[in-house]
Amino acid sequence: MKVAATYSIKGGVGKTSTAVNLAFEAAREGARVLVWDLDPQGAATFLFRVRPKVRGGSRRMVGARGELASNIRGSNLSPVHVVPADFSLRHLDLHLKKRARPSRRLADLLAPVQDLYDIALLDCPPSISLASESVFGAAEALLVPVVPATLATRTLTQLVDFLDDQEDAPSVLPILSMVDRRRRLHKELAESLAADWPELLTTAIPAAAVIERMGLERAPVGISAPSSPATRAYRALWAEVSARLWA
Ligand SMILES: Nc1ncnc2c1ncn2[C@@H]1O[C@H](COP(=O)(O)OP(=O)(O)OP(=O)(O)O)[C@@H](O)[C@H]1O
Ligand SMILES: [Mg+2]
Repeated sequence: MKVAATYSIKGGVGKTSTAVNLAFEAAREGARVLVWDLDPQGAATFLFRVRPKVRGGSRRMVGARGELASNIRGSNLSPVHVVPADFSLRHLDLHLKKRARPSRRLADLLAPVQDLYDIALLDCPPSISLASESVFGAAEALLVPVVPATLATRTLTQLVDFLDDQEDAPSVLPILSMVDRRRRLHKELAESLAADWPELLTTAIPAAAVIERMGLERAPVGISAPSSPATRAYRALWAEVSARLWA
């Protein structure tokens, strides 16, 4: 099983949209997919129409006898399985702090299910915390949506600087998110990002109403708008991400 996380220090950049749509595209191609919603807001859980509840909350889940298996739910939309969010995830740092090796805890929890899935996608809240370090300890790749705005790349630099000090750090794969090709600024920022970040994935996610509407449809765009440019973008993105993961 490969483990990737949609992650950014910044909020509202497209992490959850990316996780949900990539999960759907991966499953559509026949991969066995687990989405682990680590954000107490539970947006990915909501989009997959799963109840936002884990047994005993996040304390039990990451505690000494915690496990994932009993918290895995089927989603009625697709073959994707989901470990739902729980509002108690807002205290995840506190519970991880009690473990001997907090930065390994999420990896340890994923280990027993690794033969059941081809890919686990961890949808993270916007922060850099002990929980993030545990994500970095579990993931091989961080999928980092970057919106085309000046200064947006500063958060990428901060992240890479932070990971420089970590052993076994995941690779950072920036993804252009919410791009409007008609805007000259977007085009210019996309070009400069590509020049500065050779790891930038070539697929950009367009700014699209069908992605914005996901909260109403409660479905990946592959279901609500199967032939839209947004669905094509996520399909191409999954091809790129999977090529990197299984390179
Ligand atoms: N490509 C896009 N085009 C248009 N709207 C988008 C796009 N991607 C995301 N959005 C919208 O922007 C908002 C934030 O997206 P999303 O929830 O995916 O970001 P996030 O990084 O997970 O946010 P948070 O940090 O709160 O978890 C949502 O309302 C979503 O519908
Ligand atoms: Mg989110």
